[in-house]
Amino acid sequence: MAAYEIIDHEFDVVVVGAGGSGLRATLGMAEQGFNTACVTKVFPTRSHTVAAQGGIAASLQNMGPDSWQWHMYDTVKGSDWLGDMDAMEYLARNAPAAIYELEHYGVPFSRTDEGKIYQRPFGGHMTEFGDGPPVQRTCAAADRTGHAILHTLYGQSLRHNAQFFIEYFALDLLMGEDGSCQGIIAWKLDDGTLHRFRSKMTVLATGGYGRAYFSATSAHTCTGDGNGMVARAGLPLEDMEFVQFHPTGVYGAGVLITEGARGEGGYLTNSEGERFMERYAPNAKDLASRDVVSRCMTLEIREGRGVGPKKDHIFLHLDHLDPKVLHERLPGITESAKIFAGVDLTRDPIPVLPTVHYNMGGIPTNYHGEALNPTAENPDAVVPGLMAVGEAACASVHGANRLGSNSLTDLVVFGRAAALRAGVTMDRAAPIPKVNPASEEKILARFDRLRHANGSIPTAELRDRMQHAMQDDAAVFRTGETLRNGVRNMTQIYAARADLKVTDRSMIWNSDLIETLELENLLANALTTVVSAEARTESRGAHAREDFPNRDDVNWRTHTISRIDEAGNVSLSYRPVHTEPLTPESEGGISLKKIAPKARVY
Ligand code: FUM
Repeated sequence: MAAYEIIDHEFDVVVVGAGGSGLRATLGMAEQGFNTACVTKVFPTRSHTVAAQGGIAASLQNMGPDSWQWHMYDTVKGSDWLGDMDAMEYLARNAPAAIYELEHYGVPFSRTDEGKIYQRPFGGHMTEFGDGPPVQRTCAAADRTGHAILHTLYGQSLRHNAQFFIEYFALDLLMGEDGSCQGIIAWKLDDGTLHRFRSKMTVLATGGYGRAYFSATSAHTCTGDGNGMVARAGLPLEDMEFVQFHPTGVYGAGVLITEGARGEGGYLTNSEGERFMERYAPNAKDLASRDVVSRCMTLEIREGRGVGPKKDHIFLHLDHLDPKVLHERLPGITESAKIFAGVDLTRDPIPVLPTVHYNMGGIPTNYHGEALNPTAENPDAVVPGLMAVGEAACASVHGANRLGSNSLTDLVVFGRAAALRAGVTMDRAAPIPKVNPASEEKILARFDRLRHANGSIPTAELRDRMQHAMQDDAAVFRTGETLRNGVRNMTQIYAARADLKVTDRSMIWNSDLIETLELENLLANALTTVVSAEARTESRGAHAREDFPNRDDVNWRTHTISRIDEAGNVSLSYRPVHTEPLTPESEGGISLKKIAPKARVY
């Protein structure tokens, strides 16, 4: 192995990732006086949160009646009763304060005529505990809400003297012999140096792994890096089988057309010009939960009612809306439709198709953001020194299906929660931990092995195989057969990484090596996804099995815990769902009867 010189850093807290949750955690830690580093592989304002369009959910009641209890109920129902009640209550209760906080930090929200924050309808957000019409709960900055939030949080983090390490690729977690996390090793991409970040707390905010699939709304940087690091540290992932397809990715390009488009009055049609969602979801129609809409679109296409020469997609209409509304509230997608579909949406419908958008699964955490390593004796055992937030985490708040616009809420609510928790649990006087040499050696050996990989398969080729296997075998609808194929294919693809070929051996701006490191991360995500999916013999939320079409609460209202070893063996265990909310009914909480599982209809 080559000798690597390592530059040392010591921080109270190291946050990995500078999207919405990473920046909110960074800001919260720095605000409390923790010496905080944020290590990010892309410039903060280029993180994938910048692409979030439609908005952020909170029961502000600016457009009509709403309550945190309604928001919580919709989240419970959206999760298909797999979410943890404590986490879902925490999200819904803390959302309004989080929005006002963002407003005060400077987020330029769109406004009503009275000057209040503008809110639009979004899928699955309803009134009257699901019995009433859709509610206007999603706070928006036109259709560039993520962009507005990201820029504001970056500015605020700088204001509180957080230190940014930009274009540093986090390689792996430094783990102590006692199982605690002691920091990370990162590679500085522009000068090739390696860096040891020792810290009392490491927060993974590395986003999802949409790029395990061929067609995704996610940026090419969404490669599940934190999940890969956790898996290599021998820690588990949770609920990986639940992969969300957004109903409206641009056909072919996969670019997102916000659900806010339907919130503003857009609707879907099939080849007969029928607004088919009225048939499937008579109350919510086009604003049913996104797993439901994606399945209905797929069924329409399968039954021969798709549009276009191949009858393989669906139309989204906005051409009936006042161009002023499009200009003010949906300027971004007006531009995207033109660029990516060649459509003037004031005149023509946009061709759309369900496209991979979000990972409900990830690093298991409690609602404080603390990473978990469940055991049979303690399913909620915390990993000392490690937290995870945002899409990388599975706070079990979205369960089997996330509601649109609950993601940005998750980022800021749990980013803040992690900082608050660190404020009470971290010992300010304690020394920064020393590094376990065995852990560091393992990290460097892996880096060196990949840098000098001299097999026969180029990284791009193996990535392509993985993306097609996932797209074909772990799609909107799944069967035992497709999933068994998926497990077989992904096991072979995972093993083939031993035969990878990296052509560039340099340390500076080596994009071949970066993509190889990302591919290894994606592979761990992809394999745990198909293995977890094959094992779950029911349909719930985004996991729709044609051979097991019903939800099975007796056997499967449980979280999947997956661990993967170096050889690609995945072992599964299960962790109970938290069924108790934080607040009892007698103190204004939602009643247990209200949130008991029932049929999920919209
Ligand atoms: O449709 C959208 O604007 C996406 C929002 C979300 O995923 O939360």
